[in-house]
Amino acid sequence: MPSKLFSPIQLRELTLSNRVIISPLCQFSAVEGTAQPWHWAHIGQFAQSGAGLCILEATATSAVGRITPGCLGLYSDENEAALTRLIKDTRTFSSMPMGLQLDHAGRKASTRETWNLPKGHSVPDEEGGWTPEGPSPEPFTQGWRTPRELDEAGLKRVRDEFVESTRRAARCGLDVIEIHAAHGYLLHEFCSPLTNHRTDAYGGDLKGRLRFPLEVSQAIRDAFPKGKPVGVRITGEDWVDGGLTLDDAVVFAKALKEIGIDYVTPSAGNVAPGMKLPKVTPGYMVHFAEKVKREANITTMTVGMIYEAHHAEEIVASGKADMVAIGRAIMDNPRWPWHAATALGERIDIPKQYARSSPQHWPAYAAVHGVTLREGDGVMSHATRE
Ligand SMILES: Cc1cc2nc3c(=O)[nH]c(=O)nc-3n(C[C@H](O)[C@H](O)[C@H](O)COP(=O)(O)O)c2cc1C
Repeated sequence: MPSKLFSPIQLRELTLSNRVIISPLCQFSAVEGTAQPWHWAHIGQFAQSGAGLCILEATATSAVGRITPGCLGLYSDENEAALTRLIKDTRTFSSMPMGLQLDHAGRKASTRETWNLPKGHSVPDEEGGWTPEGPSPEPFTQGWRTPRELDEAGLKRVRDEFVESTRRAARCGLDVIEIHAAHGYLLHEFCSPLTNHRTDAYGGDLKGRLRFPLEVSQAIRDAFPKGKPVGVRITGEDWVDGGLTLDDAVVFAKALKEIGIDYVTPSAGNVAPGMKLPKVTPGYMVHFAEKVKREANITTMTVGMIYEAHHAEEIVASGKADMVAIGRAIMDNPRWPWHAATALGERIDIPKQYARSSPQHWPAYAAVHGVTLREGDGVMSHATRE
């Protein structure tokens, strides 16, 4: 039976050749928001992976909206020029569609890169830190910076910054925008009752709390070319008492669908301390995507500890989600889609320069990867003709 995971999916005018998606993965390696040689190496290897789509890391719409000083940004001409070069260079050897996740870190801005966390979470002024901004003037927890509450003018500015970054993303040649409305960053902070204590039209009940994220999503949808998809990473659950629930995610997803959003990825957590994390087992967030897909009738991507090809196949084949995002497994092994395809009896295009290591040509492939090859595979027994 042909694989569903390796079957195409249509998002507006964009056809993904398969449903393996490279999850956005912060690298904290930019300078003033501008991509560096590391990004060429990092994205370069992903571009050869054979995945259906690569979503570039959370990318800030303003310097204030960066999670860390090393976050990628798309708020200056320098940021845009470097990203344009990166996409253009990548296109010379890969036709993989490239998306980008737009983000504002909200009250979780001005924090340290993961490898600097032992020095403390927040970056102080004297080390180049800045005052974050958020829906309400409350820090994530003790020792973190207190955000400035966004007033009406601030909300308009932030919305305009999202739009400006969207226009820049379109000029860079990006195929997809994913809006980050999860993991405790600004748009999630507006959604959650744990972090939004506003008394204006942007707070209060769920409708009020979703207002700003929906306005931003609408503005981004309007600014990005009509034929190109826009998705949103949302929260399945806050995992904190009194926080967002999966029913709230369904309401949000329905509203996003209504304004023309093409897919949602339900992730979870990280908005407030005191998380009651469930057991993190393979596919521990698939049920979020499954319910959101069923009840909001929207295309979904799932994510979270999915690293085995047959598991990813089962998720898509059973209709629990339409796409599977892979994070750490693809950092560990950027050839993950090559091997997943072979394990599922499929063959995908790999760079012509590397074709002699493919199952079709390399007899040792089966032994190295522990899979059974197809009749006629491994035909090139001797690696001659260098
Ligand atoms: C190094 C690293 C960076 C990440 N950066 C982002 C990010 O930029 N945006 C985001 O939404 N999630 C980010 N995540 C979360 C992943 O996209 C993914 O949701 C999570 O790792 C679970 O999937 P996995 O088990 O396949 O890794 C990051 C995770 C890791 C490990």
